[in-house]
Amino acid sequence: MRQSVRFYLGERLVSLDDVAPEQTLLDWLRHEGRTGTKEGCNEGDCGACTVVVARLRGDRVVLRAVNACIQLLPMLDGAALFTIEDVGSAGALHPVQEAMVTFNGAQCGFCTPGFVMSMVAYRNADERPDDDAAIDSALSGNLCRCTGYAPIVRAMKQALAAPDSPFETALPALGAKLEALQDGEDVAIETSHGAIFLPASAASLARYLQEHPETLIVAGATDVGLWVTKAMRPLPRVAFIGQCPDLMRLECDDEGLHIGAAVTYDAAREALAALLPDFGALVGRIGSTPIRNSATLCGNIANGSPIGDGPPALIAAGAMLHLRRGAEKRVIPLERYFLAYGKQDRQAGEFVEAVTIPPLAEGTFYRSYKISKRFDQDISAVLAAFALRVDKEGIVQEARLAFGGMAATPCRAERAEAVLIGAKWHEATLEAARLALAEDFTPLNDMRASAWYRQTVAANLLTRFFEESQGETMRLAKAGGLAHV
Ligand SMILES: Cc1cc2nc3c(=O)[nH]c(=O)nc-3n(C[C@H](O)[C@H](O)[C@H](O)COP(=O)(O)OP(=O)(O)OC[C@H]3O[C@@H](n4cnc5c(N)ncnc54)[C@H](O)[C@@H]3O)c2cc1C
Ligand code: FES
Ligand code: FES
Repeated sequence: MRQSVRFYLGERLVSLDDVAPEQTLLDWLRHEGRTGTKEGCNEGDCGACTVVVARLRGDRVVLRAVNACIQLLPMLDGAALFTIEDVGSAGALHPVQEAMVTFNGAQCGFCTPGFVMSMVAYRNADERPDDDAAIDSALSGNLCRCTGYAPIVRAMKQALAAPDSPFETALPALGAKLEALQDGEDVAIETSHGAIFLPASAASLARYLQEHPETLIVAGATDVGLWVTKAMRPLPRVAFIGQCPDLMRLECDDEGLHIGAAVTYDAAREALAALLPDFGALVGRIGSTPIRNSATLCGNIANGSPIGDGPPALIAAGAMLHLRRGAEKRVIPLERYFLAYGKQDRQAGEFVEAVTIPPLAEGTFYRSYKISKRFDQDISAVLAAFALRVDKEGIVQEARLAFGGMAATPCRAERAEAVLIGAKWHEATLEAARLALAEDFTPLNDMRASAWYRQTVAANLLTRFFEESQGETMRLAKAGGLAHV
């Protein structure tokens, strides 16, 4: 059992044995004198606070941009942290900084350190295409209110072509330093500031939660971080599970795709896209690159928000949730987890261990649709995800219509599903299902959308699904899946 949190800040090894669970990385950095990292929104939206976190993944050092304002300091255990002060200096700019100067990528400059850090992470990514769409996505978590984005994108393109700088040439040596930090120990710190636990295994976490059922679990902190920075909530006892190896499991077998509780959206994206291409595309609409680098699918579920994007997409896919309390484990259909607004089927001391997405039955047509005002970094007004299987006679055998933003929890449209099952998949059935949707839900009026808008868009998404299924049905029919509809 270790009683300190250890990480590298640039070249310096930091060891902290008295740290508050709710200490944000941004506040800590600025108190350390690293004031190049800025505070803008303090809620993960603007990117002024972006820093780069390097971790060992297998034998590789992987760099990711994250929002320092909503990272909690103990989450850094085992990592190397780089801020704007680490990548270049006045006489020796990093190629990204050089390019920002060349292309006039800054005016007031407040956003610039954050942009530079996102750009440094992208320059060091495994895949770093230099097309506009990929660069826009890499910079989706950084807002600039005076320069405009075109010069910054030009700078990114130039920087992608530049040779390694001293920052990059030092990275391979970092692997051994990070390796030395991986001691496989639980970390437990109890001080007057609060209690921190970092489990080295799922079994350790299970034991700890039984001893301390009041513990708050934190994975990526992209929800919890805001409880600290916006609601000023103290967090007296926290288990940080983000680096627990057992919970980082991402595997595909006959039962489907298993996604452990510590797997981030970024880490799961490729596997999700391979299983359900539409879900993979949806992941690109969740938050921004730095948010997806921290946020987990299981955190999205456990948070229980009615407007979380992951749950409806998973429910339509037939996902099963794995819960654990001590040695007791249970597996439930995901939709049963959401009992009421703010109330989930989770006992004290229990935690979400994983979610499994089974392979779709042959011939199933799956789609997910996110409706929000902006493409990136926006919360859904409505999230609809549908899976439908018809037999060779065109009769619907299975229908799963799941929605977010339509009720107090993510849920299925049971009346509309009942209309579909056993009916022929054609226009008249679609119309009947559209009408049934109105009985399934009484959506909210709020600042994101009116109830009328939500209801209308939900029915229209079902029509879109119907239209898209027509072409797809032909393809599946030719491939021997569905015969005809
Ligand atoms: C700027 C920004 C943009 C966002 N955009 C989107 C978006 O587009 N779509 C969307 O759906 N969400 C969005 N979110 C919300 C958030 O990113 C997601 O809900 C995310 O998936 C939460 O995962 P996390 O690992 O960060 O959870 P955390 O913040 O670590 O935890 C969230 C909740 O789940 C609990 N929890 C976490 N893991 C477990 C576990 N294993 N067992 C039991 N309980 C657990 C925590 O106690 C807490 O109650 C956004 C957030 C921000 C800040
Ligand atoms: S300060 Fe805006 S994202 Fe952190
Ligand atoms: S240069 Fe002013 S906000 Fe970007």
